[in-house]
Amino acid sequence: MKLLGQTPVLRRTLLALSLATMVPAAMAQNPIVIKFSHVVASDTPKGRAADFFAKRAAELTKGRVKVEVYPNSQLYKDKEEMEALQLGSVQMLAPSLSKFAPLGVREFEVFDLPFIFDDYTDLHAVTGGPVGKKLLSKLQSRGITGLAYWDNGFKVMSANKPLKAVEDYKGIKMRIQSSKVLDAQMRAVGAMPQVMAFSETYQALQTGVVDGTENPPSNLYTQKMHEVQKHLSVTNHGYLGYAVVVNKKFWDGLPGDVRAALDKAMAEATKVANDVALKDNQEALAKVKAAGKTEIYQPTMGERFLLKKAMMPVHKQMASRIGQDTIDEIYKVTGFDPSKL
Ligand code: LMR
Repeated sequence: MKLLGQTPVLRRTLLALSLATMVPAAMAQNPIVIKFSHVVASDTPKGRAADFFAKRAAELTKGRVKVEVYPNSQLYKDKEEMEALQLGSVQMLAPSLSKFAPLGVREFEVFDLPFIFDDYTDLHAVTGGPVGKKLLSKLQSRGITGLAYWDNGFKVMSANKPLKAVEDYKGIKMRIQSSKVLDAQMRAVGAMPQVMAFSETYQALQTGVVDGTENPPSNLYTQKMHEVQKHLSVTNHGYLGYAVVVNKKFWDGLPGDVRAALDKAMAEATKVANDVALKDNQEALAKVKAAGKTEIYQPTMGERFLLKKAMMPVHKQMASRIGQDTIDEIYKVTGFDPSKL
């Protein structure tokens, strides 16, 4: 644009006009970026749902939002990612529910209580109801907004020795997530729990820093843990799932229509996560079996009962930490009766 030879007012007007016409183009080139960091592989329930969310967020906002997904602890390990979210270095995460207590929201460890959920139906009655909502709202004071719960599944135990009877756990070092409930659960069967980042687990198993671990089969298989674990026991003793969370300041600052579109994308992604979770875990178990390096053991009803009996005192032990009221609310929703054991 040639500005020479024009009056100062006309020059300023023309400049303002040219800037105004530039804005939409600049916006189109600079979408709102959401960095979504997570620690698992892309071909897991969480990985698939995160990728689906990214795709739908772009479609529903017509390119105004770009979600960049960083899987497999590429950007941050699990403890670091929580700090990065609070600092605003990433905008979105889906940490497992076990990883919220270190923020001071200990109620989340209720999900770690062994044998508290029989199946996904029990679980959804909690996460899809008022108890789930109340727990998410507790994150607000930490600068975090909870958007949804995503499933993974029920955990298996693995080690380099068969894990059939409760006594088999005695003295073995087991990697756990950063949860005092999981710590108590492992101690209840005589194991020695060791908190460790998810990304460090494979190597720790390989080098013998720990002897075993617990995780849903989809995590175990996609991290190749089965290559360094000779035995796996399908105990289904506890649940592992996620809360999808965003930096509150970032979320509150989004234009209302963008937030509404992202809410819709999130609702669809939640359905994807929860629809694929069971299948992914069943397939992962089949793949572990096919790989032929790990012996898969299906505990008998009697063995599972004894494991449950050994672990149940953890519910009482952890009541003052989690809050008996939260535990009772969950018992009520699922119909769980701890006295009936
Ligand atoms: C773990 O640390 O074992 C899991 O929380 C990993 C995950 O995000 O599923």
